Amino acid sequence: MKPVLVFDSGIGGLTVLREARVLMPERHFVYVADDAGFPYGDWTDLDALTARIVTLFGRLIAEHDPEICIIACNTAFTLMGAEVRAAFPQMRFVGTVPAIKPAAERTRSGMVSVLATPGTVKRAYTRDLIQSFAAQCDVQLVGSPHLAAMAEAYIRGETIEDAAVHAEIAPCFREVDGRRTDIVVLACTHYPFMANVFRKLAPWPVDWLDPAEAIARQARRLVPPPESFAPLTGIDPAIFTSAAPDFATRRLLQGFGLTVVDRSAL
Ligand code: DGL
Repeated sequence: MKPVLVFDSGIGGLTVLREARVLMPERHFVYVADDAGFPYGDWTDLDALTARIVTLFGRLIAEHDPEICIIACNTAFTLMGAEVRAAFPQMRFVGTVPAIKPAAERTRSGMVSVLATPGTVKRAYTRDLIQSFAAQCDVQLVGSPHLAAMAEAYIRGETIEDAAVHAEIAPCFREVDGRRTDIVVLACTHYPFMANVFRKLAPWPVDWLDPAEAIARQARRLVPPPESFAPLTGIDPAIFTSAAPDFATRRLLQGFGLTVVDRSAL
């Protein structure tokens, strides 16, 4: 059976891989982190970033022949989802976009915040989602310059100061005419790793919307389950484009049943 390829700029896609493994137990996974290009949210030459990711997918598809590719990165998919689909029409892609539609359906106060990378908040794709699905809501876009890198450090076991995290999430919390933000969309796949810290530091309780399970369900819909399958053996590969993830990252990946392939995919 062909594997499922999960792609992100770093370790954020693991939040999606975790859910996809549960729903697709018959499949092997290939995890790809373009850590040599991290953080995508800071890129200003967007043509170069698009070309980089399309080139990378060309190599990954040729090498791993996946059944399906999950682009578990809002910053990448909102930029180049259409380009990558056009470049590889024979391949199926599941994308990740800010969960603005479900947030608009669920909010009671009508006040929603979207916490994302600076890249994602600038995208026309994100503005279109708000126009199409949340025009009746008061949507606050919060572009966080540091959170993705903080999540990488946090998950590697480094200490992150509460004050630094608080500064990043504080603009999500708004109170207008007695109404308060009640949903914060986690529109970067790195952020769910820090959801417990966010909950602790939040000035009031909100729903932190993590789209990982919905993305995994979409992949499952596109790849129907087999009638029966043999239990999987072996460990799945993880490819880092730097070819140099540190020890803590390798250990983290082990916990996800992944082992780092020691060569770059670029
Ligand atoms: N994980 C990526 C996302 O979902 C963002 C991290 C980055 O800036 O590279 O948007």
